[in-house]
Amino acid sequence: METKIIKLDKEKPLEYEAAINEAVALLKKGEIVAFPTETVYGLGADGLREEAAKKIYAAKGRPSDNPLILHIDSLKMMAQIADSLPHMAMEIMAAFCPGPVTIIVKKKDSVPLSVTGGLDTVGVRWPGNEAARRLIGAVGSPLAAPSANISGSPSPTTAQAVYDDLKGRVPLILDDGACSVGVESTIVDCTGEVPVILRPGAITLEMLKELFPVVRLDAALHDPNAIPKAPGLKYRHYAPKMPVYLFKGDLRKTAGKMAQELDKLEAEGKTVGVIASEETMACLSPSAPYVYGKRGELDKIASNIFAALRYFDRKNVDAILVEGTGEDELGLAVMNRLQKAAGGNVIEV
Ligand code: TXA
Ligand code: MG
Repeated sequence: METKIIKLDKEKPLEYEAAINEAVALLKKGEIVAFPTETVYGLGADGLREEAAKKIYAAKGRPSDNPLILHIDSLKMMAQIADSLPHMAMEIMAAFCPGPVTIIVKKKDSVPLSVTGGLDTVGVRWPGNEAARRLIGAVGSPLAAPSANISGSPSPTTAQAVYDDLKGRVPLILDDGACSVGVESTIVDCTGEVPVILRPGAITLEMLKELFPVVRLDAALHDPNAIPKAPGLKYRHYAPKMPVYLFKGDLRKTAGKMAQELDKLEAEGKTVGVIASEETMACLSPSAPYVYGKRGELDKIASNIFAALRYFDRKNVDAILVEGTGEDELGLAVMNRLQKAAGGNVIEV
């Protein structure tokens, strides 16, 4: 299969529309299409058609027990798939949608069990990205869309990253430039008494606490032995081919500790990729640096983190050292992804 990439250019409305129409025609035929969202690129298919959604699993090499999120563009579409909308789900939608959040609610029978990995709940997301919303609206059906990467690799935040993973497996990629958020949506389980964050993202714990007196974090986010409630999070994820070492803790001491580790690995003759803040990088002199932003510039760091991991993955370095961030606000999402990418290799500073 040939994979076509079409650039979306708002300055050229006719071409923009033609690109959306081409994607719509494919989706209506039950094909898959990669499209932009504000978080990461998604691999979409009509979420109410079993055969279409199955193509997503095949293209990604995704385990079939890992449910897909359905993307909507209106409350009307929500009503097609959600059995009931608890008050907390309505409040989250009113405050943050369209935007980078996914809510878990009871599903209607219209949603195939093969899309929800056999669960009686469904993840619903109303993306902020305009092209995504136009696409969903024009198809007229919720789009199932996981991140558009091969299962297990870092999520794609550019059309090129999608192409690198899915070339020959998807007929069309809509290119809307780099994703503004850069980490996947916050997943909030709304099926219990209080909202529970299953995956942290740009709608932060602090933001949700302004709406609700109690917000919980899924146990798996702090206890490595707990089974995550989001089935996909039990798998190895976000991981480049080579070992990743994450430096966590006192930011002032990080540079020194990273320098030590860098010297040690380079003395062994290894090529080491270093992902760090401007401040820390100034204290190191790695042969392969990637500056992800200034210390504490969490928006920027989040939007660069997957691109950084992918950059070194393709460069085939022997190891990657990453400077962690704090765990407040968006830092919780960044550190969650980095911890997964690092597996057990976390160095407490
Ligand atoms: O930002 C995003 O959410 C992106 C863009 C494309 O919208 N999508 C995304 O999808 O990250 P994916 O499939 O890569 O991650 C979805 C996660 C998986 O870990 C999955 O197990 C979990 O959401 N999930 C989906 N439906 C669920 C449900 N009903 N209950 C619990 N977890 C669910
Ligand atoms: Mg994913």
